[in-house]
Amino acid sequence: MIRFDSVSKRFPDGTLAVDDFSLTIPSRTTTVLVGSSGSGKTTLLRMINRMVDPSSGSIHIDDDDIATLEPVKLRRSIGYVMQNSGLLPHRTVADNIATVPLLSGTKRAAAREGALTLMDTVGLDRSLAERYPSQLSGGQQQRVGVARGLAIDPNILLMDEPFGAVDPLVRSELQQELLRIQKDLAKTIVFVTHDIDEAFLLGDQVVILKKGGQVAQVGSPAEILANPADDFVNTFIGADRGRRALRIEEVSGRQVVVDGTGRLAGVLSEGTLT
Ligand SMILES: Nc1ncnc2c1ncn2[C@@H]1O[C@H](COP(=O)(O)OP(=O)(O)OP(=O)(O)O)[C@@H](O)[C@H]1O
Ligand SMILES: [Mg+2]
Repeated sequence: MIRFDSVSKRFPDGTLAVDDFSLTIPSRTTTVLVGSSGSGKTTLLRMINRMVDPSSGSIHIDDDDIATLEPVKLRRSIGYVMQNSGLLPHRTVADNIATVPLLSGTKRAAAREGALTLMDTVGLDRSLAERYPSQLSGGQQQRVGVARGLAIDPNILLMDEPFGAVDPLVRSELQQELLRIQKDLAKTIVFVTHDIDEAFLLGDQVVILKKGGQVAQVGSPAEILANPADDFVNTFIGADRGRRALRIEEVSGRQVVVDGTGRLAGVLSEGTLT
């Protein structure tokens, strides 16, 4: 479990990026933070692995106040998939994936074997292991980013708009891949996006953010769709009504949730998806 208690972040230039944010993120499920540009998503994510320290408030991982943990050690124990992939251009795919294990003292041969196994996990052909990032497609680069995030077999995986820079078809493939991986691995995933469709598809818990990391609504996709908290949420989830991934329909007097292809995703009973 990750718990934010009244967390604020004011940067040295005076920008209040996050204002009194509280949230509990349950273990072994996916929580998606969704909000428009500048709402504080990246700042919130980076406070979990102490790349950014809060100005006030506290963050706990299970029973530990992370302010008491050693930042480098903490950072290396948490998977992080960066916005814009963040791959090292002069390192091969295998070396990129093995970056953190190598830094943490894993022997070269073992790190390499681990990297190849992870390439299988994320659906990358092993023949790409010696290529450089610039020799990969955008979708392949994103897969390398995910493999690198998983390389230390972390309990927590932070993903900052990991599928932002690819076309819709590849994006959809990557999303399905992540759902499959998560079904097998059951990590505590904190996933950031500005795309509400992506949030509803991937999130067990979805957190809709306003400016300054203010929480507009927290809930399961079905709960939010069934009972939008206010006009802001309504507008946010209704913005792309035509192509929204999930919607609610009434069938034989019961409320059901169907996905973009019209397939049944579940039945709503008293606001929860069953
Ligand atoms: N190092 C910094 N110094 C000053 N202000 C910052 C810094 N980093 C972020 N900010 C500001 O804090 C606010 C939140 O930024 P953040 O990067 O967390 O937003 P975001 O939701 O991730 O946006 P995007 O969707 O564009 O990635 C913005 O107003 C941003 O300009
Ligand atoms: Mg960001």
